[in-house]
Amino acid sequence: MSSPTEFFSYKKGILCADGIPLDKIAKTSGTPLYVYSEKSFLKTLKILKKELRSFEPLICFAVKANSNIHILKLLKQNGAGADIVSGGELFRAMKAAIPSEKIIFSGVGKTEEEIKSALKSGKSGVGSFNVESLEELELINRVAQENKKVARIALRFNPDINAKTHPYISTGLKKNKFGMERKQVLKIFSAAQKYKNLKLQGISVHIGSQLLSLGPIQDAFVEVKNLITEIEKMGRKIELVDLGGGVGITYSNEKPPRISQYAKLIQKHFGPLKKKNKNFKLAIEPGRVIAGNSGVLIARVLGQKKHGNKNFLILDAAMNDLIRPALYGSFHAIIPVSQAYLKGPKLKYSIVGPVCESSDCFASDRPMSASLKRGDLVAILSTGAYGFSMASNYNSRPRPPEILVRDGRFRVIRKRENFQDLVRHEAF
Ligand code: LLP
Repeated sequence: MSSPTEFFSYKKGILCADGIPLDKIAKTSGTPLYVYSEKSFLKTLKILKKELRSFEPLICFAVKANSNIHILKLLKQNGAGADIVSGGELFRAMKAAIPSEKIIFSGVGKTEEEIKSALKSGKSGVGSFNVESLEELELINRVAQENKKVARIALRFNPDINAKTHPYISTGLKKNKFGMERKQVLKIFSAAQKYKNLKLQGISVHIGSQLLSLGPIQDAFVEVKNLITEIEKMGRKIELVDLGGGVGITYSNEKPPRISQYAKLIQKHFGPLKKKNKNFKLAIEPGRVIAGNSGVLIARVLGQKKHGNKNFLILDAAMNDLIRPALYGSFHAIIPVSQAYLKGPKLKYSIVGPVCESSDCFASDRPMSASLKRGDLVAILSTGAYGFSMASNYNSRPRPPEILVRDGRFRVIRKRENFQDLVRHEAF
């Protein structure tokens, strides 16, 4: 598992992405900007593939974590599929030429239009719709019938398990909007033959994101296994088990489960111990664990100010570029691009952006060099997942570019937006 600085470390006194100095990239592309490491993106994917090789799983990257088409292509070239939650994400996955059968359509509210385009994507439509309710199941059946298609589906099971993560990203409790109860799942399996335009393949589960212990994941696996046993007792076959995403990463000093431990747990519960288990395809939907520590947000210091004994460090990046601290109070390490600033006297800062809200704050009471001044660069770490993909134009701020470092070179994989981009769709 990558640490925040595994691929972003100092070389000759300057913070680098895979050996490329970030000040050089900032000079060419301006700030704020996202910089990604290709090596890092591929590292975790390769480990997942290796550790789970006995399953030959379908690894569907959660597009919401990082939706850049170049990144999706890169992952696709290395065997990944896509977990999508909207027509827009489907469009991106298809643009990245991800085979439609390797696309899983999750999400709690699918529109008729989205279902139709997912059914018509590629040769035979998406590999699975993860269905969230009976009503949605009936809708998919009807849309499939109208379009003379058979929709492959799995039922998303809500096991009512506390994932012990931030409440906004917990999804496996009854009080969360996601999935269906056990009883409902069984009812649908027993009536499956009624739905002529559906192929009911199996079960999916996803209890939350940034999970830091295997306990809740294990509890969910046990529930899924029990459910599978009950379904099989009814004489129904399970062909797909989708275990979702959720494995957490290190932002500060968290100790998330190792991928090898996660894989062992999957092996223990779903492994090919008995031959019959080989009958189903295993899918996972990792997002953060692949992308999180593969990117940084580089910002320039605009200045400092003091209110009494409170110090503010003002950056040119803001909550519209990276909303996680404002939305979840999440921690991101912030380090100077010039290593020299690690030495010398420090001040405790509120590190803020220019947006007109007090929630536009990346960190509070964060010790940083007292000498940081206008023009200096800092890196906000662990922002490869849910960074750019959650960025907005709030305060009419153009979104930053995305840059990918590969083999000692860097390449713009999304241009900086300009003011014209901001008003393009407005009538005036
Ligand atoms: N599958 C489903 C059905 C999901 O809802 C999610 C994430 C994933 C997979 C990927 O989970 P991951 O492996 O990345 O944990 N914006 C939040 C995270 C929201 C996650 C939503 N669902 C954040 O910045 O922390």
